[in-house]
Order: sequence, then C-alpha cells, then structure tokens
Amino acid sequence: MLDVDFVRQHFPCFNDSPTARWAFFENAGGSYAPQSVSSWLYRFFTEYKVQPYGFSDMSIRAGEEMDMAYSRIAEWINAREEEITLGPSTTMNMYVLAQAVRATLAEGDEVIVTNQDHEANIGCWRRFSEAGIKVREWKIDPGNGELDIADLRTLVSDKTRLVCFSLCSNVVGTFNDVRAVSKIARDVGALVVADGVSYAPHKVIDVTELDADFILFSTYKTFGTHLGVLWGDADVLRTLPAQGHYFNAANPRYRMNPTGPLHAEIAALNGVFDYFDSLYHHHFTEKKGGLHERAKKVFKLFAKHETDLANLVLDYLRDNPRVRLIGKDRAGESDRAATISFVTTDRSVVEVAKHLAQKQVAIGCGNFYAVRCIEALGIPSEPGVLRASMVHYNTREEVHRLLQAMNEAV
Ligand SMILES: Cc1ncc(COP(=O)(O)O)c(C=O)c1O
Repeated sequence: MLDVDFVRQHFPCFNDSPTARWAFFENAGGSYAPQSVSSWLYRFFTEYKVQPYGFSDMSIRAGEEMDMAYSRIAEWINAREEEITLGPSTTMNMYVLAQAVRATLAEGDEVIVTNQDHEANIGCWRRFSEAGIKVREWKIDPGNGELDIADLRTLVSDKTRLVCFSLCSNVVGTFNDVRAVSKIARDVGALVVADGVSYAPHKVIDVTELDADFILFSTYKTFGTHLGVLWGDADVLRTLPAQGHYFNAANPRYRMNPTGPLHAEIAALNGVFDYFDSLYHHHFTEKKGGLHERAKKVFKLFAKHETDLANLVLDYLRDNPRVRLIGKDRAGESDRAATISFVTTDRSVVEVAKHLAQKQVAIGCGNFYAVRCIEALGIPSEPGVLRASMVHYNTREEVHRLLQAMNEAV
C-alpha cells in the first residue's frame, strides 16, 4: 500500500504553507512539485545559473546537471537519450513536430485526428488541410465521450499517413488502447502520435511497450518544472527534417527544438527522480532494477491508491440524479485515470466550483482546451464542465471533503 503520509512529507504545500488547508483536485491542470524539485532549481539559480557546457566550474556543473536530467528522463520512459527533446510545453513541441511532419506529406495524403483530444494534438494537424492534405476525424460517442476502435478501422486507408490521439483524454479519463490504435495505423503504414499528458502522471510511459512513433507529455503535470517532453522513435525522427538551427541538425537534443533549452528547469527535473527514488526505497527493499523498473513499481502503488479514490468519487457521482458524469462510471487500475469530469444539471458549474472554493476544495471548471470533445458531448464549452482530478498524493479524507462540499452545492 502507498504510504500517503510519507508521500505528503515531500511536499511543502501540504505542510508549512497556507495551501495546506486546501484539498486540491485540479492536478490534471498542473501538479504540485516535491521539495526536491525546488532544491535543484534553487541550487541551479543561486550557484550556477550560467551558460552550461563551458570551462568554469559553474558552467561545467550546470551542464552536468542538465545531462543527468536528460538521461534520467530517457531511462524513466525506457527510451534512448537521443530520442528526447525538451521544449517549453507539449503544445509547442507538438507544433514543431507538425512542421516537421508536414514537410514529408503531399497533397492527397490523409491524417486522422480525434475530437476527444486537447487542442494541442488537433489544431496543428488540422492546419495540414491548407496544403491539400485531407483531415479525417475520429469521433467520440456523444453519450459517454469514448472513442470506438471500430470507427478508426473505417477511417484508415492506404492514404493515411498519420493517426493522432491521446493515451488518456484530459476530460474523459479513459486510458485509450494504444496498441490497438498502433496496429491499425501500422497495417496501412501510418505513423502514430500519442498525447501522453494526462497519462504520464498516473502510469509510467514505456515507449517500447506502447508502440507509438511519438509520445509527448508535460513535466509540470508529473510533479516537475514547466517543460514538455517530446519522445520520438530514433529511426522515425531521422526521416524528418530538422527544425532547429541548421548547424544543430546532427544534435539530437536540438534537432527538433528551435528554441534554447530552459537550463534550470531541465536540471530541476532531477528532483522528480529523487522523489520517485525516495518513495521506492521507503516501500521496497529490493536493490536491483533501473529507474524505469523502480518507477513502475512505485506507480503501481499510485494506481491502486488513485483507483480507490476515483471509485469513491464515481460512486457518489453515478448515483446522483443532479449530475451527468462523463466517461466510465467505475475505475479499474488499467482502464481509467482519476480524472473525473461531470456537469451539474440544477446548478451552474461555475457556482458549484465557487462554492467548493469557499470550502477550500479546489476543483477544475472549464473546457481545458478540449473544446471539441465537450461540444461533441452536447455540453457548451463555456462554462464547460467540472473536473475533479486526483493524483497519488490525494487522500481519502480530501475526497470526503469534496463529496461533502458537493452535497451542499448540488
Ligand atoms: C491532454 C493534454 N494534452 C496537451 C496539453 C497541453 O500541454 P502544455 O500545457 O504543456 O502545452 C494539456 C494541458 O492541459 C493536456 O491536458
């Protein structure tokens, strides 16, 4: 079992801070970071915030910490280091990736996007239509927000070059079946771009197991600093034109990155892995296994705990006649994240969110840039939906506070 008290000791926001009074349920918008992340960031800023990879002690140290972060990120997701690009956000990384892919397509080619995704993995691909590329939409079920794999089969053809979808929607919360999507895409020779932003806080990405060509996620939602990770299969990356400065084309870190890296924020990601390791050593005695294996074991504890919390919330929402729940009404560890969206039928969602805030219960309210998904569900994207999103540091006691405040509000 996950020792949640031990977990929470790592986060200053739960201890010596005015924020400690809040029950926080907007983790899908951005998670808290443990002390270890702030410590790496503080040290970098106060001791060696200089141009890295030079000859001074400060510059060497700065470069070493960045290198260490690149290699730990790669290890975490079971990738090779040359497959990792770190940019400012997933939206920006996706946009850059789209520029690269676009150069390889021709008029008459087709790409598939969903209407379930965050706009980051839709808009940049939809723009391809300006170049005569056909964009097909894989549509959700308007009742429950789910994608049906059978529908994808009817959309692909020998013209399909790309299938873009999410490992987990930030509104619906279902873990989509990436292997099934990849199989269909591979059969017609198409590439697969998977948005992993709402997946990565809950499950360890294993790029060899998930079988996509590109997986992107945001580290500010995985307990770190505000960055985006673009993983691309090395062989596929090589087929795309470089997007960075021409003289960096052979440098895998900067090939797909037209911007300068955010040095301190990259170095501070080491704090995320220190945190995972601290949890590992607290819960497990076995010493062998690399970062990826250790993280998988820790995340297995997360999944069990999060599923338990999710089902407390789902049990309440499912039985409430004044609520329309989106997505699965029961969570299993491998089919649903603890990202739970719903609308209230008798009271505006904004009023409910405000009422909860008065009780120091923080819940999301809006469209979360999944505008197409929310509208396809027949819900106005303004003001959108309520979203209670939990991660491993949430507690049962917090959930009880949420449900009590919900009872009053609804
Ligand atoms: C599922 C999903 N994809 C993409 C994004 C965009 O990520 P970023 O803010 O790093 O651009 C978000 C952000 O909320 C998201 O939830």
